[in-house]
Amino acid sequence: TRRVTVRDIAAAKQRGEKWPMLTAYDAMTARVFDEAGIPVLLVGDSAAMVVYGYDSTIPVTVDDLIPLTAAVVRGSRRAMVVADLPFGSYQTGVPEALATASRFLKETGAHAVKLEGGRRVLPQAEAMVAAGIPVMGHLGLTPQSVNVFGGYRVQGRGESGEELMADAKALEAAGAFAVVLECVPEELAERVTTSLSIPTIGIGAGGSTDAQVLVWQDMAGLTEHTARFVKKFADLRTLLGDAAREFGSEVVGGAFPGPEHAYH
Ligand code: KIV
Ligand code: NA
Repeated sequence: TRRVTVRDIAAAKQRGEKWPMLTAYDAMTARVFDEAGIPVLLVGDSAAMVVYGYDSTIPVTVDDLIPLTAAVVRGSRRAMVVADLPFGSYQTGVPEALATASRFLKETGAHAVKLEGGRRVLPQAEAMVAAGIPVMGHLGLTPQSVNVFGGYRVQGRGESGEELMADAKALEAAGAFAVVLECVPEELAERVTTSLSIPTIGIGAGGSTDAQVLVWQDMAGLTEHTARFVKKFADLRTLLGDAAREFGSEVVGGAFPGPEHAYH
């Protein structure tokens, strides 16, 4: 088996095929999603919340994400693994961005990086592409800018939609191989998708994007509270809670371990 590459991603858009992306943060879930045929796994800085327990993506560091990204690469065989660059690791300038992206590729085996923002990070995106690092963009509700937005709210309504369109075109011109559109009106996402030759990956952006991404804990119903755009494809929160409760009561009641679990 060979890994999915940026060429496969580009070919899918040519053929008009939609595809799924999921986040992953450890080897075991990466293996499950890989075997389920998910072609692209994103080690999101959403790890700040779902792995590290912070209430935004701002605090998570490169050193926090490197081991998770390496684990996802080790756990998967076929998926392309995209490393999310955390807040503060690429905005400061081109040399810093190149150093961060290089660390992810060298130390984790990730195949591409993702960064938030459009024209404001264009020099970084261009330099990475020139250095041979595939770049995924991220526009709309970019959570690393939550303090500028004043909360997690829909972006790109009205005239700001033209700004987003210009950012998307700039990322494409810079050589980005795909762009995430988060929490934007469906009509805008559709216009961006038809205007670009690179694929758009939607999250809360309606059904017209070339691909869809969800945080896996949201997708599988492990997260307690989720946004309107999330569909829960399973109820892992109940399943896992029930399993833990059952384990607890069998230990307390003496039903576990049984004779079949013992060595003699
Ligand atoms: O960090 C993340 O999980 C993401 C996706 C939701 C696109 O950036
Ligand atoms: Na992210």
